[in-house]
Amino acid sequence: MSIRLGDEAPNFTAITTDGEIDFHAWKADSWAILFSHPADFTPVCTTELGRTAALKDEFAKRNTKAIAVSVDPIVDHHAWAPDIAEVGGIPVNFPIVADPDRVVSEAYDMIHPGEGDTSTVRSVFVIDPNNKVRLTLTYPKSVGRNFDELVRVVDALQATDAAPIATPADWRPGDRVIVSPAMSTADARQRLQNVEEIKPYLRWADQP
Ligand code: BEZ
Repeated sequence: MSIRLGDEAPNFTAITTDGEIDFHAWKADSWAILFSHPADFTPVCTTELGRTAALKDEFAKRNTKAIAVSVDPIVDHHAWAPDIAEVGGIPVNFPIVADPDRVVSEAYDMIHPGEGDTSTVRSVFVIDPNNKVRLTLTYPKSVGRNFDELVRVVDALQATDAAPIATPADWRPGDRVIVSPAMSTADARQRLQNVEEIKPYLRWADQP
């Protein structure tokens, strides 16, 4: 079954490179980035997991934990980890789920048979502290993901949760934001700084 924004992220127990976990208990009240990769010992995946390890401090600043999934067995994950560390320049510092029975992959609809086999595609789920799915992305096997974008969307989700705002195209933290369409310009001027009405439906403000 496909997962939609706002759905509760399915819980699971699984063997990972950090031992057995219960996903919701492991995540607790953090944000989580749950992402699948097609297979161990493959080039694009090696760069992606290395990049994830390198971003640990950025994720931690945002109360965010990363966790990877593939259908390969735990013995392969452990054997592959030194390669990821060598390529990424930092040891793997997040759990990699072994999902040979496809319990997690099927719960999150990570297998797309049209992609040629029964391995997982490059799915991403950003999950909030209440276990709600807040963002999904699906990339084909041939295209590595932009992990800076994952950090940016966590920033945007946290900013838009904290104030009645939305973020414009290509927004980066500190850039001007958009006043929520649900808020009047008069109310926005009470709540936000430097409100500027470009159109009745497009009002800019400083990021609170
Ligand atoms: C890769 O990670 O390099 C990869 C994995 C599966 C298919 C194609 C590429």
